[in-house]
Amino acid sequence: MKNSKHFRSSMILGFGFYLLVSFCFTGQVLALSDADKAAIGTEVTTIYRAARGVVAKNQGLINDASKGDKGFSADVVISKTKENYKKATGNDFKMADAGSLKGQTQKALLDSISSVISDAQALINEKGKGLKGFLPAIFAKQMGDGFNKNMKGKAYIKLTAPKNYVRNRANRPDKWEANVIETMFKDAGYEKNKVFTENAKHKGKDAFRLILPEYYKKACLNCHGEPKGAKDITGGKKEGGKLGELGGAISFVIYN
Ligand code: HEC
Repeated sequence: MKNSKHFRSSMILGFGFYLLVSFCFTGQVLALSDADKAAIGTEVTTIYRAARGVVAKNQGLINDASKGDKGFSADVVISKTKENYKKATGNDFKMADAGSLKGQTQKALLDSISSVISDAQALINEKGKGLKGFLPAIFAKQMGDGFNKNMKGKAYIKLTAPKNYVRNRANRPDKWEANVIETMFKDAGYEKNKVFTENAKHKGKDAFRLILPEYYKKACLNCHGEPKGAKDITGGKKEGGKLGELGGAISFVIYN
C-alpha cells in the first residue's frame, strides 16, 4: 500500500518533469538564446531587404506608362526575392520548421510581401500613369506593417532613419533607435554594416532588439541627395545626403 502510493507519486513527479522538459523544447521562444534571436533578426532583415531590392530594381517597369499588365505579380516578386536572398547570403532560401519562431517570421514576411504586391496590382498595372509612388521605402513600410500584423505581438520590424532625415512620421526612430543611430552608427569608428543588438524595452515591453545601419548609394541621392531642400521627382524635399552617409536603419524586435 505504502509502496504503491510512493510509486504513484513518483509517477506524477516523473510525468511533471517530462512535461517541463518537453515544454522547454517546444516552447521555443523561451529557450532561444540571444544568438538565436540575432540569427532570426538577420534572416528577417535579409528577406526584407531582398524584397525591397526587387521593387527598387523594377522601378522603371512599375513606372512605365506605356505598359498595362507588367507581370509584376506576387509570385514573381517572391521568386525574385529568393534570388536576391541567395545573392546576399550565398545560400538557397529555406523555410525553417513551421513551429519555430524562425519559421513563423519567415512565413509572416513572405505572406506580407505577397499580399502587399497583390493589393498593388491595380496601381502597378495602370496604363497611362508614370510615377506611381510605389517606391522601395513605401513598399517596405507596407511589408513591415503586414509582418507586424501577422506576428501578433511576437516580433516587429520597421524601416527608420536618422531623426533629421525622416520624411514619413510613421518611420520616426523611437528613443532607443535614435540613440543607437546618433551615438553609435554615426560614430566614425563604428564598423560599417554591423548590426547592434541589445535587450531593451520596445513599446513598453521587454524585448530583444536588433538594428542594422544602411547607407546612401548613388541611386538614392537622386531623391535624398543635394541640394538640400530641392524637390525630388516624387515632389518631396531632398535631404542633402551624401554618398556613403548613414541614410536609414532597419529595426527588428523579438518580445520576451
Ligand atoms: C524616387 C525617389 C527615391 C529614391 C531613389 C530613394 N528614396 Fe528613400 N524615400 C523616398 C520617399 C518619397 C520616402 C518617403 C516614403 C514615405 O512617405 O513613406 C523615402 C523614405 C526613405 C526611408 C524611410 C525613412 C523616411 O524618410 O520616412 C529610408 C530609410 C530611405 N528612403 C532610404 C533610401 C535609400 C537608402 C535609397 C537608395 C537605396 C533610397 N531611399 C532611394 C524617395 C526615394
